[in-house]
Amino acid sequence: MKRKCIRRMALIGIAILVLLPMTSAGARDLSGDLEIFSWWAGDEGPALEALIALYKARHPSVNVINATVTGGSGVNAKAVLKTRMLGGEPPDSFQVHAGQELIGTWVKADRMEDLTFLFDEQGWNKVFPEGLVKLIGTDKGIWSVPVNIHRSNVCWYIPANLKKWGIEAPASWDDFFAVAPKLKAKGVVPLSLAQNWTANHLWESVALASLGPDQWDALWTGKLAFDSAGGVKAWELFGKVLEFTNDDASSLSWQQATDMVVDGRAAFNVMGDWAAGYLSTTKKLAPGKGFAWGASPGTAGRFMFLADSFGLPKGAPQRDNAIAWLALLGSREGSDAFNPLKGSISARTDSDLAKYNDYAKSAAADFGQDRIVGSLAHGVTANEGFMNDFAAVMEMFLKSRNAQAAAKAAQQIAVKNGIGK
Ligand code: GAL
Repeated sequence: MKRKCIRRMALIGIAILVLLPMTSAGARDLSGDLEIFSWWAGDEGPALEALIALYKARHPSVNVINATVTGGSGVNAKAVLKTRMLGGEPPDSFQVHAGQELIGTWVKADRMEDLTFLFDEQGWNKVFPEGLVKLIGTDKGIWSVPVNIHRSNVCWYIPANLKKWGIEAPASWDDFFAVAPKLKAKGVVPLSLAQNWTANHLWESVALASLGPDQWDALWTGKLAFDSAGGVKAWELFGKVLEFTNDDASSLSWQQATDMVVDGRAAFNVMGDWAAGYLSTTKKLAPGKGFAWGASPGTAGRFMFLADSFGLPKGAPQRDNAIAWLALLGSREGSDAFNPLKGSISARTDSDLAKYNDYAKSAAADFGQDRIVGSLAHGVTANEGFMNDFAAVMEMFLKSRNAQAAAKAAQQIAVKNGIGK
């Protein structure tokens, strides 16, 4: 009897050993390196570091290489990634925006692995919103794992400063133009701005206010020309807004533009809600008291969204370690460790809101009820080709302030890059 039992246990043991390689990478004892590539360096790092700490707890034998290239919205990281991917040296997993930045670039070039198997294994089709899965998928597969939802059209300010200056947060750009000269007269910059990509970022919020959500969407389906009357008007409004920004913008990082608001050198800043992460996680300000926010002027009820995601490049040196990484960042535990520090909300529909601060709670409520539109500056609506060309159009506009010419150039690059095709 006893011998039979021992034999049975031995057989079970052998069966486990045989089956082991077939089970999910996340469940196995992993070792070796894992190189994660992103632009979440320095002040942008704490949320990623929390996720890495969780990974290390699950897989203590894996040596995680946190490869970052600093520069907001990935301005520098994307160029480095391109060199590595084209040179046949992909990292194990890399940050990429859901939408055209992923599909129109790496998926189109057939450089990514299909992650449908992981979505099936983890039951993710049930917990990620259908619209989001569509953005990271094609008819041939699902190409990345979303880690968050960020909001682009947010205007940040410090309540105590507004009180001191006797002003209120502007609901519209007209409201802003009413208070901006008064602020200027006090030596306060009405709206702080940083380097070129933050001008693109501001542009999309101004254009959304000027065009409204239907026309904004129509730009990306090719139904509305960039040089239509509405398109030109958006550039004109943007030019007017720029008159109330700081002259040294091109030399500042987005954090430095946020610092101007915190220090009272500027009244407002339009930035994505990674600024909420920076203000609460790094600056230790309390949401609603130390800092406050509203929809960027003229965009209440509209949620301009973007999502960071991570993919698995073909030829990833440590594929199993990367799959375990992706499994973690798509999990509820991973997502709820990352997002409260990042300023974003979870991309999952079952996140534990008790873990989030008041800013994130309000963002989650808005995401549930607002009209959702995609961000240009952060990869949702247009491919990389358009984005790069748009940065040049912006450069030109910042110098010339010629709305007609910018609208015309934007239309040309839309045609060139197949926008709406
Ligand atoms: C965005 C990204 C955010 C944040 C921001 C500033 O493109 O989606 O997560 O990192 O850039 O760098």
